[in-house]
Amino acid sequence: MTLEELNNQILKCEKCSLSKTRTNVVPGEGSSKADIMFIGEGPGQKEDEQGVPFIGAAGKLLDKLLALINLKREDIYIANVIKCRPPGNRDPLPEEVEACRPWLDQQIEIIKPKLIVLLGRYSMDRFLPNQKISIDHGKPKRRNMQVYYPIYHPAAALYRNGLLEDLEKDFKRIPRVLEMIKKDKIVINKEEKVEQAELGI
Ligand code: URA
Repeated sequence: MTLEELNNQILKCEKCSLSKTRTNVVPGEGSSKADIMFIGEGPGQKEDEQGVPFIGAAGKLLDKLLALINLKREDIYIANVIKCRPPGNRDPLPEEVEACRPWLDQQIEIIKPKLIVLLGRYSMDRFLPNQKISIDHGKPKRRNMQVYYPIYHPAAALYRNGLLEDLEKDFKRIPRVLEMIKKDKIVINKEEKVEQAELGI
């Protein structure tokens, strides 16, 4: 299946009650061949209105951060843990995250990103449970064959003093993390039994 075919299925999803309150589904945006995939929490009001991820205030900051490392949206893929906006921008419920799980898993399977950047605590929890974003942000981790890089969510940096500096610092290390993965310095070894390895970058 192509990413476009998958996203067309996602657009018709009625697996949870968010399908009744959404305006638009927000499957994701960017290149199906991206090396880097960014995963946020879920659509906000603007995203719900237009069906495009990260186009509100947090999205503007994300664009600035991408520019810092010479990336454009078309170079990467941006998706969310849940594809439909929770009413009033409340936090996603566990059953909503579960209902959306296969969609995001299939997107990752098709794109096969070398690096997944997890934006914020909901996204981190989905892939790296039992971590704390205040401690684990900026630390690449491997689970099985996949490298994840948790960082603060841009929205959190907009509303909480002091986080922007950490977010920029972590963001600027993304090219280096990717380079390490490409050069196989981060050894992704099928035989390795250890599931969790903190990568010493
Ligand atoms: N916040 C997110 O997590 N995702 C979006 O698409 C927009 C804001």
